[in-house]
Amino acid sequence: TLPANLTTAIRQALSLGEFNGKKEESQVLFIGSSQIPRILLMGLGDKKKIDPELLRRTAGSTAQALAKMNTETAGVCLPGASGSAPENSLAELFAEGLTLGAYRFEMYKTKSTEKKKEKAELKKLTLFDPEGKSGAKSLSIGLIRGEAACLARTLGNQPANTMTPTQLAKEARAIAKRNGLKIKVLEKAELEKLGMGMFMGVAKGSRQPPKLILMEYRAPKSKQTLAFVGKGITFDSGGISLKPGAAMDEMKFDMCGAAAVIGAMDAIGRSKPKCNVVGIVPACENLPDGEAVKPGDILRSFSGKHVEILNTDAEGRLILGDALAYCVRNYKPDAVVDLATLTGACVIALGHYATGAVGNNDALMEKVVEAGRQSGDIVWPLPNFPEYEESLKGKYADLQNIGGREGGAITAGLFLKNFVEKVPWVHLDIAGTAWGVKNIGHIPNGGASGVGVRMLLDLAMKWSAIPASRKNS
Ligand code: BES
Ligand code: ZN
Ligand code: ZN
Repeated sequence: TLPANLTTAIRQALSLGEFNGKKEESQVLFIGSSQIPRILLMGLGDKKKIDPELLRRTAGSTAQALAKMNTETAGVCLPGASGSAPENSLAELFAEGLTLGAYRFEMYKTKSTEKKKEKAELKKLTLFDPEGKSGAKSLSIGLIRGEAACLARTLGNQPANTMTPTQLAKEARAIAKRNGLKIKVLEKAELEKLGMGMFMGVAKGSRQPPKLILMEYRAPKSKQTLAFVGKGITFDSGGISLKPGAAMDEMKFDMCGAAAVIGAMDAIGRSKPKCNVVGIVPACENLPDGEAVKPGDILRSFSGKHVEILNTDAEGRLILGDALAYCVRNYKPDAVVDLATLTGACVIALGHYATGAVGNNDALMEKVVEAGRQSGDIVWPLPNFPEYEESLKGKYADLQNIGGREGGAITAGLFLKNFVEKVPWVHLDIAGTAWGVKNIGHIPNGGASGVGVRMLLDLAMKWSAIPASRKNS
């Protein structure tokens, strides 16, 4: 229970109408005590309507508000269990939300430019559970989720001149080592030898060597294997089909699919799900060098299919197509999920608050949507009628790499379907959700959001085999 002077102050704030406990409402009280000089009240709204996402957001806003205060320590008093949030997950959700909300990307801000250093930095946060139900375990689950998403954010937020394919591979190595995961990085010469013509076609336009990052988590005795594949374009200039200048800097975020996969592998290494998980990241730059792929060029993919390049800015599907084909051939996974900042069309269709999805298997899609709902990384299925695939048929080759502006997020996703054989697969277009999110307590305004990490972790932790009756025909 709270000390009497605190409860009195809170009662007074309520009775004076200074604070009503509404959703997103907050209020600071100064109570003249030297031990606890201020109280921050955070509203949660109607008790019956509290859900996990509201708890994460409120915890995130709490972290943001605390960061603005001139204090080194704080205690957070968890709300009483209620609504649809399961009781024992309160601490879990708060630990997750606080970690996510406290995130800052300040690697490149030297002390001299930072006036706010005059203020104390929060160093210690204590969670109080009035019902005494929270254990260290739920705290650590929440922390793992939050920290892995923050790790993905930091990979995404770094500029393209430091977060090169080589650096991305280095970071993946460090994460694998820390978590006892297997890791292999295929270099340019090996990719050429393997015949990854689409991947190499994109990579050729840059001086930075491409990398195919392969991470593996092995669960003892499991027969099921999940594969996650992430687009790792560390900078997308568009290539010869050069992008316009406006907001081109944001194309440093074009490796957020890769960041999601690497972040998820960190969380998976720490959480140890019962199924095997492989994380695959094709990483390169898309730049217009003298050797760059040109519109009209025809590339031979790893799968053997030929693809006519009509726009070099549709590069994500090329590197993913080869990575997916390699993935299904080498690992024989039971399901594949790919994540990519694939199309501007998806941003137009869904904005920043839902990830677009297409796939070839309804059972897997249901699992992914549910994992999205549980984790807060919302996934929204798009239609996948065969009619959409017509526009991808090539004039001079098996396929062409664009299907026109109409339904661009769908046709881009369905291009990938050609490279997964019959393996259950879902493609997630995170172009809208990977950055540019605003006004959500636990997601930083504008910067990399870490989307996908918590969804993939949830999917792996709850994985069960897709029943034979629901396999692809
Ligand atoms: N990385 C971009 C997609 C993108 C654009 C994500 C803007 C987020 C914001 C991708 O490689 C791309 O350029 N796609 C093209 C495809 C088109 C040429 C068919 C696009 O969306 O314009
Ligand atoms: Zn592009
Ligand atoms: Zn791109």
